[in-house]
Amino acid sequence: MKLSWLFVAIATTLFVQNVVSNTISTAEERLVAAITAEVDVLAKTGVVTEELKAYLAELAFPTLTRNTDLTSYIEQRSSLTCTLCTSLVNVIMGYRKIGLAEETIISTITTLCVNLNIEGEDVCRGVIELNAPIAFYIVDHKPNLAAASVCGIVLQSSSCPLTDEEFEWTVEVDDGEPVHISSEETKETFRIVQISDPHYDPVYEAYGNAYCDEPTCCRVGQNDTNTSGAVAGYWGDYNDCDSPWYAITDALDQIKSQEQEIEYVYFTGDIIDHGVWETTREGNIKAINKTFKQLYETFGSVPVYPIFGNHEPNPTNVFAPSDVTDDEYEVSTTWLYELSADIWIQYGWLPESTRSTILEGGYYTLSPKTGFRIIALNNNICYVYNWWLLYEPQDPSGQLKWLADTLLQAEIDGEFVHILAHVPPGTGSCQYTWGREYRKIINRFAHIIPAEFNGHSHNDEIRVIYDLEDTTEAIRVAWNGGSISTYSDVNPNYKVYSVNANNYAIEDVDTWIYNLTLANESPDKNPTWFKSYSFKDQYGLEDLSLSSLNDLVLRMAYNSSIISTYYGHYVKQSDPGLESGCSDSCLTNQLCKIVTAVADDSTQCNYFTSLA
Ligand SMILES: *[C@@H]1O[C@H](CO)[C@@H](O)[C@H](O)[C@H]1NC(C)=O
Ligand SMILES: *[C@@H]1O[C@H](CO)[C@@H](O)[C@H](O)[C@H]1NC(C)=O
Ligand SMILES: *[C@@H]1O[C@H](CO)[C@@H](O)[C@H](O)[C@H]1NC(C)=O
Ligand SMILES: *[C@@H]1O[C@H](CO)[C@@H](O)[C@H](O)[C@H]1NC(C)=O
Ligand SMILES: *[C@@H]1O[C@H](CO)[C@@H](O)[C@H](O)[C@H]1NC(C)=O
Ligand SMILES: [Zn+2]
Ligand SMILES: [Zn+2]
Repeated sequence: MKLSWLFVAIATTLFVQNVVSNTISTAEERLVAAITAEVDVLAKTGVVTEELKAYLAELAFPTLTRNTDLTSYIEQRSSLTCTLCTSLVNVIMGYRKIGLAEETIISTITTLCVNLNIEGEDVCRGVIELNAPIAFYIVDHKPNLAAASVCGIVLQSSSCPLTDEEFEWTVEVDDGEPVHISSEETKETFRIVQISDPHYDPVYEAYGNAYCDEPTCCRVGQNDTNTSGAVAGYWGDYNDCDSPWYAITDALDQIKSQEQEIEYVYFTGDIIDHGVWETTREGNIKAINKTFKQLYETFGSVPVYPIFGNHEPNPTNVFAPSDVTDDEYEVSTTWLYELSADIWIQYGWLPESTRSTILEGGYYTLSPKTGFRIIALNNNICYVYNWWLLYEPQDPSGQLKWLADTLLQAEIDGEFVHILAHVPPGTGSCQYTWGREYRKIINRFAHIIPAEFNGHSHNDEIRVIYDLEDTTEAIRVAWNGGSISTYSDVNPNYKVYSVNANNYAIEDVDTWIYNLTLANESPDKNPTWFKSYSFKDQYGLEDLSLSSLNDLVLRMAYNSSIISTYYGHYVKQSDPGLESGCSDSCLTNQLCKIVTAVADDSTQCNYFTSLA
């Protein structure tokens, strides 16, 4: 309502000011023209005009949506956000092309960011300064990149369509019939532990300010600690806070003492904190070194198979192609790939043969035993905030082609495969083409992939993915490791998988947690970890085969009490998570998340929700 009123007001203003030309036809286009004119004034004079202030205030993001996924908000705003984005990006790319001073461009975007209520001044400036060199590099080296493509990627949704053909590409996949691997039946199992998303904050301040104006709180020096009345817990905090170091070592010690017989550790990424406006390469190197060293000292000869989270690079989310070197821009990701390959190989977790693909794009494969293969992906590159997608959109670093080839070879060699990837399938912020091609590849080889393992969401959740053609046949399952981090409103957790020794299928999953509220009542005592549930027992399943999981999803669709149970585990029984609860639409969302295979594909969601 407010917005349509705004259109009228603007149209009137424009008419009075007589800037309406014949070529500008819609109210939306007039709004854009008006705003870009005001932005021009800002860039040239540094002055935020009253008009610009008013426009931006009207368009500003509600404070509520900060720190959360903006996708649904952008959907509501429909095409206006897209149009506005396109014009602003266009203007700003133009400034770069005419050689406007970098500082002027940075200040202009910072002002827009603050006035759009996206973040406060320090955070806006920090994030923009960190990302500007990459944006400049891309604009300089790819002058034909259209603003509409930038927004079509970043605001990916039906209301911001991407029409640029460069972003439409495919990966060739073997079209032979699936060859099934025969394996002898066995009841023998072994155990794998999954640890995810520790988000170590080197400046965590126990009893500091847990409710601040920045994307992460509970940090030293934040806003004269305690002003909000929200006092950071000793072991962590349900607010937007990362983990103190001792909470991470406590979790590792707990796993070590509880699980004496683990074969492997899967570590699914996100070591670095959410201080995205002030990360540094040196800071990330220190935290990464320290975390892997701790993993090594804890688990000794048990191999850890690690992958990158979207927080590992500097700035967050951006993984440069391997041929982009530091030169004048200092934007490469080489330092991260080299550092990690060195550490992972030096600790004996990975063989030397993995180095070349880690350096190429942060992915690798190895066969820890005959008949079994691990494929570790860096699917963070598909994240729409990875600006390098704009520069090299087509199968970045050749990862998907490599994946298709590696899976074909595994099929030929009769190997079962576990796939590790930080971002879960179906994530709305994974670029659509990449997600679609990934799905296509896995669809072809699903019969040799008994499980995928993800992190990133910090929730204890699963994905059950259906065949591309026979949409009623469940063919894949992806387990999310949850998080050591309590960011936000979740308890910490780790998972223990019982894995069949012959076919590498998951036979059961135990989730271990502690109650953070309770732990914080006794800072001098280590938290009391306990087994929250076994997946098989909790849902009364005979096994965790795809047909049993499909039955579970069907039961969830018919019986909301089952999906409510699932929600309790999703937040890991945290007090704030249980307190806020899950409304009917939230329960529907949960069900849809489980079955969505790729961003924006609602086929399965529609089917299952129609059953209720
Ligand atoms: C914050 O407040 C708590 C309780 O009032 C106090 O114990 C603590 O020392 C304060 N922390 C800081 C960093 O001032
Ligand atoms: C400090 O935090 C409070 C909320 O906790 C906020 O209202 C206030 O504006 C902040 N002050 C500064 C200077 O950031
Ligand atoms: C991190 O580890 C690497 C490889 O082990 C080492 O060369 C480097 O000096 C370490 N850096 C820091 C800051 O600890
Ligand atoms: C967690 O511990 C607190 C403090 O003892 C308690 O009030 C709360 O009920 C517990 N939460 C759950 C879900 O058990
Ligand atoms: C729904 O599921 C719950 C938990 O498994 C069960 O107790 C209840 O009987 C089910 N309700 C129906 C209508 O099937
Ligand atoms: Zn994370
Ligand atoms: Zn993540």
